[in-house]
Amino acid sequence: MNISEGIRGRRSIRKYQEGAVIPREDFEKMLEAAMMAPSAQNLRPWEFLVVTNRELMEAITEVSPYTQMLKTASAAIVVCGLPKVQEGRCGAFWPQDCGAAIENLLLEAEALGYGTCWCGLYPNEERAQKMQQLFSVDSVPLAVIAVGVPAEQPAARGYFEPEKVKYFA
Ligand SMILES: Cc1cc2nc3c(=O)[nH]c(=O)nc-3n(C[C@H](O)[C@H](O)[C@H](O)COP(=O)(O)O)c2cc1C
Repeated sequence: MNISEGIRGRRSIRKYQEGAVIPREDFEKMLEAAMMAPSAQNLRPWEFLVVTNRELMEAITEVSPYTQMLKTASAAIVVCGLPKVQEGRCGAFWPQDCGAAIENLLLEAEALGYGTCWCGLYPNEERAQKMQQLFSVDSVPLAVIAVGVPAEQPAARGYFEPEKVKYFA
């Protein structure tokens, strides 16, 4: 699968094959891809919580009601920002940097045959704080990524909108 096919083939998946196990090496490929994303000044203001514990995954669905697909997913990867890494060095680019890392993670998962769903937390402060408490972290939980073996094949939802492009030749 080349990059162009991966971009066009990716879908948000909300039904997964229950009980599928993701090997550690596949998580590491996804996380390596995430960490190869561009970031402002290459400050890499992110950390990743890889959650396969069912009780914790259930707890995430209680913190964030739009993550119900975690009930069948194999894992939740919580992507957290590290705003302090950028203080005094550059602007608060960390949500953008984390977004780039997330998209890389989704595309690597697609290449490995997994489905994903990006579920936003930030800028909902209440949900982010509850997630900080759940995982005892100081970083800022920005998104939860459901990962698993797809059990549905949704149609593409992304599309080109030429009217949203202005060319300046
Ligand atoms: C920042 C962000 C937050 C999102 N939050 C959720 C969410 O909480 N729950 C969910 O089911 N999907 C969520 N999505 C997935 C979008 O609904 C999905 O990407 C969009 O409908 C396009 O579908 P596609 O990903 O299949 O192209 C989110 C996507 C982004 C980028």
